[in-house]
Amino acid sequence: MIGALAALVLSLAASTSALAPHHGAHRRHNAAGKSTSFAPRSTSYKLVDEYSGQNFFDGWDFFTDSDPTHGLVNYVSGSAATKLAYVQSDDTVVIAVDNSDGISVGGKRNSIRISTKKSYERGLFIADIFAMPHGCGVWPAYWSLGAGKDWPNAGEIDIIEGVNTNTENQITLHSGAGCVLDKTADAVARILGTTCESSDGNNAGCAYQQTGNTSYGHGFNLQAGGVFAHTLEASGISVWFFDRDAIPSDIQSKKPDPSSWGTPTAFFPNTQCDILSHFLAQSLIFDITVCGDWAGPAYASSGCPNTCNDAVANSSNFDVAQWKISSVRVYQ
Ligand SMILES: *[C@@H]1O[C@H](CO)[C@@H](O)[C@H](O)[C@H]1NC(C)=O
Ligand SMILES: *[C@@H]1O[C@H](CO)[C@@H](O)[C@H](O)[C@H]1NC(C)=O
Repeated sequence: MIGALAALVLSLAASTSALAPHHGAHRRHNAAGKSTSFAPRSTSYKLVDEYSGQNFFDGWDFFTDSDPTHGLVNYVSGSAATKLAYVQSDDTVVIAVDNSDGISVGGKRNSIRISTKKSYERGLFIADIFAMPHGCGVWPAYWSLGAGKDWPNAGEIDIIEGVNTNTENQITLHSGAGCVLDKTADAVARILGTTCESSDGNNAGCAYQQTGNTSYGHGFNLQAGGVFAHTLEASGISVWFFDRDAIPSDIQSKKPDPSSWGTPTAFFPNTQCDILSHFLAQSLIFDITVCGDWAGPAYASSGCPNTCNDAVANSSNFDVAQWKISSVRVYQ
């Protein structure tokens, strides 16, 4: 099984081609020479915004343009969104793809893309997530985007992203020219690529891929998810992933101290990238798209049957294509 999984990962690595505005490629690079750049040490974070519970959606705008990554979705808002974006009576926030029958092969499914009304120039962002969308044809992301300049010059930070049957989460930055991931950064995940500069034709970004099978998809959901925490500071962008049973107590008590969390999962130091000039005030985003520029080309090598266009028509593929979110908290 391990051999088969490794082969699948390698074939995924080789198969990704055309890439879209919100994800990176599965490029393989050696993460050699890790040692010199360390994550920031800051202990003074105070809660400034909490997105949770029955009022969760008040803080978010619904995006209804066509999907820039060419997914087979109609992003909806208003009454069309009430079945797909809602809060359960136990305060769990649900964001889903429509899973009704009767969508044709290659047709579009209603789905959701939301972004915070507020944007943040810096801070610590902690997302506690019970379950994430996954499955053949499914391409979810939890990410953030800067405003005020054309993509990617205000910066894009992808915290949770993958496609189809992936089990290992990918963490990616996209930026304008002049931002490189220092490969000596001290981080747990493996570096996939170091060129953060992105364009429509060359869209891999600088990225890490997590190890183990609990950071993305079925394995993440089996353990009721976990916490992704990230900091955006002048010193760099750091990301930590905690399994559900290993969430630090200072996160639970809303007094987070990243200096106590150990080596980050992913770290993009400021040594070869002036972080705050490339990553302007960021809005947080959740979305789920279907097929499109990444899940489409990677579909066959993910071990999924027939074609991605066929997958859209099979409503069973979307039964677990849902985010289930406990909270997103922002500290500064
Ligand atoms: C994750 O890996 C563990 C250890 O190799 C294995 O026992 C488990 O079945 C895997 N889980 C999934 C969802 O693949
Ligand atoms: C439809 O999707 C489900 C869930 O992925 C899968 O088990 C089933 O085989 C698919 N059916 C067809 C006809 O492809």
